[in-house]
Amino acid sequence: MATIRLGDVAPDFSANSTEGNINFHEWLGTSWGILFSHPSDYTPVCTTELGTVAKYKDEFDKRNVKVVALSVDGLESHAGWVKDINETQNTTVNFPIIADEDKKVSELYDMIHPNEDSKLTVRSVFVIGDDKKVKLIITYPASTGRNFDELLRVIDSLQLTAYHKVATPANWKHGEDVVVSPSISTEDAKNIFTKGVEEVKPYLRMTPQPNLN
Ligand code: BEZ
Repeated sequence: MATIRLGDVAPDFSANSTEGNINFHEWLGTSWGILFSHPSDYTPVCTTELGTVAKYKDEFDKRNVKVVALSVDGLESHAGWVKDINETQNTTVNFPIIADEDKKVSELYDMIHPNEDSKLTVRSVFVIGDDKKVKLIITYPASTGRNFDELLRVIDSLQLTAYHKVATPANWKHGEDVVVSPSISTEDAKNIFTKGVEEVKPYLRMTPQPNLN
């Protein structure tokens, strides 16, 4: 297992899931992707997380993001657990869950942190761009459920900054002003960002979010 870093090509794999065999790169196609791990089936926090992700499907679709979950339990266990998730979270799980019984994918993505737990995965999140490169890695412990609103917010930033020469400031949310990338001069920025550029300091230039009408 090699360390995975931002900018690396996301390691490809083939794995069984609740929606059949997944060849990861082929499955991603031209979409962005989220691969996220769960410590175990039939656990309370994971149950709420998977229910939440199912309810956010439209938001992920809008952003051209495919979602795949993973835990080290088997397909039979996943099938029974999905029924519980649907029942208790009032939803229908609408994305695949990888059955990583041999821990092949967990080890490939370094999702098992032995000093935390030697057998189960932590709550890893990998966001993968449409170029198959890793854009974001977040790791939570088992006892802390993820904030999927934050994940959508970050995806908005990742996609915006992938296609425009801007960066997003602290606590930025879709629709708010952004920072002009330090790599371009204020003079060039004024030509590129026709909605206006405010030079607060020579290194701090603000502009309205460029991909909004
Ligand atoms: C949970 O998903 O609820 C959970 C899993 C492992 C440890 C603690 C909580």
